[in-house]
Amino acid sequence: MTIRQTATTFDVTAVRARFPALARVGADGRPFVWADAPGGSQTPESVIDAVANRMAAGASNTHGVFPLSEEIDDVIAEAHRAGAGFLGCDPDEVVFGQNATSLLLHLSRSFSRTLEPGDEVVVTRLDHDANVRPWILAARDAGAAVRWVDVRDDDVTLDLESFERQLSERTRLVALTLASNAVGTIPPATELVRRAKAVGALVALDGVHFAQHRAIDLHAIGADMVATSPYKFFGPHLGMMAVRRELLASWEPYKLRPASDAVPDRWETGTQSHESMAGTIAAIRYIVSVGGFEAIAAHERMLAIRFLEGIARIPGARLIGIGHPDRVDERTPTFAIRVGSQHPKETSAALARRGIFTWDGHYYAIEVFDRLGLLDTGGAVRVGFCHYHTCAS
Ligand SMILES: Cc1ncc(COP(=O)(O)O)c(C=O)c1O
Repeated sequence: MTIRQTATTFDVTAVRARFPALARVGADGRPFVWADAPGGSQTPESVIDAVANRMAAGASNTHGVFPLSEEIDDVIAEAHRAGAGFLGCDPDEVVFGQNATSLLLHLSRSFSRTLEPGDEVVVTRLDHDANVRPWILAARDAGAAVRWVDVRDDDVTLDLESFERQLSERTRLVALTLASNAVGTIPPATELVRRAKAVGALVALDGVHFAQHRAIDLHAIGADMVATSPYKFFGPHLGMMAVRRELLASWEPYKLRPASDAVPDRWETGTQSHESMAGTIAAIRYIVSVGGFEAIAAHERMLAIRFLEGIARIPGARLIGIGHPDRVDERTPTFAIRVGSQHPKETSAALARRGIFTWDGHYYAIEVFDRLGLLDTGGAVRVGFCHYHTCAS
């Protein structure tokens, strides 16, 4: 199932009616504003039903010679097919796991065994720690070096000259985000992957934030792996990665002996969350049903422009990141702000009293806040929207 077919608009009221949590209201009768979409999306009824129906139909482990077990085998196979359509890869290149962090740690441990002293790994100051620390640990264990790509002070985009400077024939892997969960920046991934590939490096993409807003196509981008988390794109808590088959076959996973050595099973250690896989299939169908990412991006673009125009008029509010509405296509509708000298936690608490839920702090994107000198003063308030938001809710 591909998510690239589309309509260009959707009825946002009808979309919101599909999410039970969006009907929740505060003591004043006004709907809550769930402005922490980057922390996790709300769940449509169809996904909730898919998880519940899978559990109601019966639980079983895989590869048994009885019908319930065969049903579970079918769910797993279908989840791989749906994941392949979503991520632009083949079904046997999709790996499920507990969450994106666990999957990246899992893969990085095996990658470490391929490294040698003198090799280099490149990470960025824009990335969530889930696509930084696993590769640093891998390098540390192998005696390899780590090189950092910087961000620009003015608009918190990746510094492309810094990127170029870190690459060399010693670079074995570049870890790069498709979109920042902290400030919303969308780096020019296709071009950066091309440059990394030119020096023969592997490329690990973090698509966790991006997957809520735009379509991913691993093969078209030309990278080697991309991590996502279905709970960020309207599905249940789970991790889902696409990894090039050749790596899944050649890297040695940390796994148990009786577990299958087939690709990708050898990477899916232990018993998986079959009900979450059923929910993930439903989440991907849900995205198709609203018109795919073309429709989603068009709606989010409108929200982002409105937000940027509005925040510019609030005295004392400072946006950290790309601020000009003309550059809205270079970012997601995720905004980091500071208000005057107020601590971000105070701002977030004041918004919560008005029924607007935001997160404050560094959201695990610690490098970027450290780099901007904001880590010790509370980071920023993150206001994050997705396609089910309106200008009022
Ligand atoms: C950009 C980004 N990468 C990685 C992660 C980690 O994902 P998970 O919670 O599935 O481990 C997050 C979670 O917030 C994220 O926003």
